[in-house]
Amino acid sequence: MQYFKIASLLAAAIASVQATNQVTLKSLDDVDRTVYFTPSAGHASINSVDVPAGQSVTVEIPFQWVGNWHGVHKGQANTDGMLGEVTFDGWGGKNYFDVSAIVNPNDKDNVSEMWPADEPNTPTSGCKTFPCNNAYYVWDDVQTRVTTQSHIICTLSKNGYSASKRDAEEDTEEKLSRDFVLGKK
Ligand SMILES: *[C@@H]1O[C@H](CO)[C@@H](O)[C@H](O)[C@H]1NC(C)=O
Repeated sequence: MQYFKIASLLAAAIASVQATNQVTLKSLDDVDRTVYFTPSAGHASINSVDVPAGQSVTVEIPFQWVGNWHGVHKGQANTDGMLGEVTFDGWGGKNYFDVSAIVNPNDKDNVSEMWPADEPNTPTSGCKTFPCNNAYYVWDDVQTRVTTQSHIICTLSKNGYSASKRDAEEDTEEKLSRDFVLGKK
């Protein structure tokens, strides 16, 4: 009994110093979208959100959440898409992210690029114009990005949409393999 009381107090204390994890879904074009979240096994579900054309919607993500999201144009069926993937509070307490075309490389008009909110130029994952050499296409590509920032931006736009300010191809930040994220490498 006492043990559980102490354990829960401890957990509450730890939670209070943790940064809140956030993802801002940022529409760059004139399309209303719905974004669906898919937790990895054992992780909490997150409700889908509507992201109106040209607007940004910020979603809170639980501590140590691992999973992904994809977008569809509003009103369309929820099918597999280009993924925004994250591991928050992973290996070394850092946050890992990447854009992945592994499930559906043909979805080029929804999830586009991801980057840490407070690091304005680096590192970036994904493409303004798909395909590019800055996203996962096969499982052993080395494309995972790492940051200590707990707020990640994910753009939603049509392929090649010029309003994207990022030029991921010029980004020289390190890329990691997937295994690194959970301390397996
Ligand atoms: C993404 O955008 C296209 C529109 O070009 C749409 O047809 C597609 O269903 C969307 N979503 C997915 C998951 O492919």
